[in-house]
Parts: sequence; structure tokens; C-alpha cells
Amino acid sequence: MILLQTPRLTLRRLLPGDLDALAALYADEETRRHFPHGTRTRAQTQEELEWHLHGHPDDPRLGLWAAVERSSGAFLGRCGLLPWILDGVDEIEVAYLIDRSRWGQGLATEAAQGIVDHAHHTLGIDRLIAVIKHGNTASARVAEKLGMHHERDYRHPAGLCWLYARNR
Ligand SMILES: CC(C)(COP(=O)(O)OP(=O)(O)OC[C@H]1O[C@@H](n2cnc3c(N)ncnc32)[C@H](O)[C@@H]1OP(=O)(O)O)[C@@H](O)C(=O)NCCC(=O)NCCS
Repeated sequence: MILLQTPRLTLRRLLPGDLDALAALYADEETRRHFPHGTRTRAQTQEELEWHLHGHPDDPRLGLWAAVERSSGAFLGRCGLLPWILDGVDEIEVAYLIDRSRWGQGLATEAAQGIVDHAHHTLGIDRLIAVIKHGNTASARVAEKLGMHHERDYRHPAGLCWLYARNR
């Protein structure tokens, strides 16, 4: 199921056949450097993929989606919208992760901008956040390019994070 398209990308629901490509991204130490649990095994990746196959179980409009290159069909990353409860407040996060071989080409910004528009205008979600581990400056830059601002710090059990946010 296609959620949205951008000039270079199709964002669609994850499929079982994405496991090899997703597991390769999740096994890469540099890509997973700023995630609380670091790299993921194939089994852990499969568990996460299956969790998102039909949209997020708590809200099927949300979830992690495949970012596929329109011109080649290549699996370039996974992006989407994730529901969290932070300090007792319901929040929705814009999530993005791109294949390291394609960093610096504007793909995360393009995907995330499409997601922001989809969230605001199709789903009617007013407020979006990004929770970014201190030091993940590339991710913070993407958040800034989405029109998010640093609202406060957030103390995640795995370490201090920047909380970026934007309202429609
Ligand atoms: C963060 C990530 C998604 C960015 O993907 P990308 O496709 O390279 O991003 P874009 O090309 O759209 O934009 C990156 C921006 O960050 C900047 N940037 C890249 N590396 C940077 C760094 N180390 N420090 C500061 N800025 C950096 C780029 O210059 C660019 O900004 P610019 O257009 O003003 O020059 C990618 O690095 C990634 O997948 N990281 C691992 C997963 C991750 O950390 N996801 C976020 C979790 S909160």
C-alpha cells in the first residue's frame, strides 16, 4: 500500500520481502550509531518489520514505511510516523533512516517533508516531533529543514535527546 510519493521516492507499507534490505541497514554500526540499542540482528529486524506490516498496531495510519527509489525500485530506507507517550503526553514523531551509501543527497529531507505534508493535510495531525539523540547533528539538520525547532531536551532512558517540534 502506497502512502505517498515525492519526486524521487515512493513511501509504502513494509513488506515481508523487505527483510534482507532492512536487515542490512540495521546491521550497519554507523547507521545505528544514534539509536538506543545500536545495531539489530536479523531476527530483531524481522520482529520490527512484522510489527509494522499493516501500519502501527496502535494506529494503522502511522508506522514505519519503506522508502523506495521511484526510478530503480531500490529500497533506500525506512521512514514514517511513530506514536509515543512522552512525559505523559501523546506525541507523533517523524522518523527517517536512509541507506548510508545515499546520505547527503537530500533524500531524508525529501521523504520527511512528504511525511510532514501527509500528516498535516491528509491525516489532520497538527503537532509533530522528532526525538534526536544528542550529537546526531545530521538528523537535527533534517528536522530544522522541516521547519522544526528545538523545543527542549528529553531524558530518554538510553541518553539525553533533543526534542524538536513543529505545529501546522
Ligand atoms: C539523518 C539521516 C536520515 C540524514 O539523511 P540524508 O538523506 O543524508 O539527509 P539529507 O541529505 O536530506 O540532509 C542532511 C542534512 O544534514 C547535513 N549533515 C549531514 N551530516 C551532518 C553532520 N555530521 N553534521 C551536521 N550536519 C550534517 C547535510 O549537510 C544536510 O544539510 P544541508 O542540506 O543544509 O547541507 C541519515 O544520516 C541517517 O539515516 N542516519 C542514521 C539514522 C538516523 O540517525 N535517523 C534519525 C534518527 S533521530
